[in-house]
Amino acid sequence: MTVPAGRPVTEDTIGGLRARLDGARSGGQRVGLVPTMGFLHAGHQSLIERARSENDLVVVSIFVNPLQFNPGEDFDDYPRDLDHDVELCAQAGADIVFAPDQHEMYPEPVITTVRLGSLAGVLCGASRPGHFDGVATVVAKLFSIVGECSAYFGEKDFQQLTIVSRMARDLSLPVRVVGCPTVREPDGLALSSRNAYLSSDERAQAPALRRALEAGAALVEAGEPDGAVVESRMAAVISDAPLARIDYAAAVSPATLTRSEQPLQGDVRLLVAVRFGKARLIDNLGCRTG
Ligand code: PAJ
Repeated sequence: MTVPAGRPVTEDTIGGLRARLDGARSGGQRVGLVPTMGFLHAGHQSLIERARSENDLVVVSIFVNPLQFNPGEDFDDYPRDLDHDVELCAQAGADIVFAPDQHEMYPEPVITTVRLGSLAGVLCGASRPGHFDGVATVVAKLFSIVGECSAYFGEKDFQQLTIVSRMARDLSLPVRVVGCPTVREPDGLALSSRNAYLSSDERAQAPALRRALEAGAALVEAGEPDGAVVESRMAAVISDAPLARIDYAAAVSPATLTRSEQPLQGDVRLLVAVRFGKARLIDNLGCRTG
């Protein structure tokens, strides 16, 4: 791994970022992009480190994207700490932090957005209508601003990773989308900026998501043919946590994100979404039928 040279350069304009990247690419440098909404943690840092190991110039974008929050969601409360984020970017080896303000990203009035098809209405898209259109719009803009690059996304947000990969292909964007493994706390809880919302009791119960996924995967791998049985088992494990309110517990085909053919066959993706107080946590795990 390349040792970081020091504090990354911070850019807040699209034109400034483009000028730097065009210069780098014309000198033959490979560009890596890590899109984030900030309040970074070791999960984000693992993406930056992966980008560092595969590219000459690493850009981290930090932008809390209003388009992907529904009314009543946590846009206003979403945790923000740019100075600390820049520090964590430096540690992980980023060269440039792109931190535009809302006006720079969305000059008024915006009349063009990305509208997704089938993958966006299921799972998280069912309880957060329009969320993935908002994600796709900002990611399409970032891909357009950054240009030819490899872009790193976490498997933690498996539906997002699937949608972004498909969008890059469907729109012929010059971006290689790379999926990276989920980083977890020692007790199995996936790192997330939203873990900051958990009370200590909620935090103590939150590893139920990971336990549910493991219980589901054990059933699938032991040859359970019925997806509904696997889903019920995961829901039962989550329900053991008294503060948990289940949004969904699903066993789906990784390509379509819809319920797999019965009996379950081949690769299965297990996904859960659970509310603890004001936090909505998600997690997922891949497995194969035994
Ligand atoms: P954010 O939640 O900040 O996440 C940025 C990236 O970090 C995503 O690709 C996410 O999957 C990854 N990530 C988060 N927690 C992780 C963990 N525990 N292990 C590994 N990777 C993890 O996802 C978004 O922002 C936004 O929707 C965005 C793509 C930036 C568009 O606004």
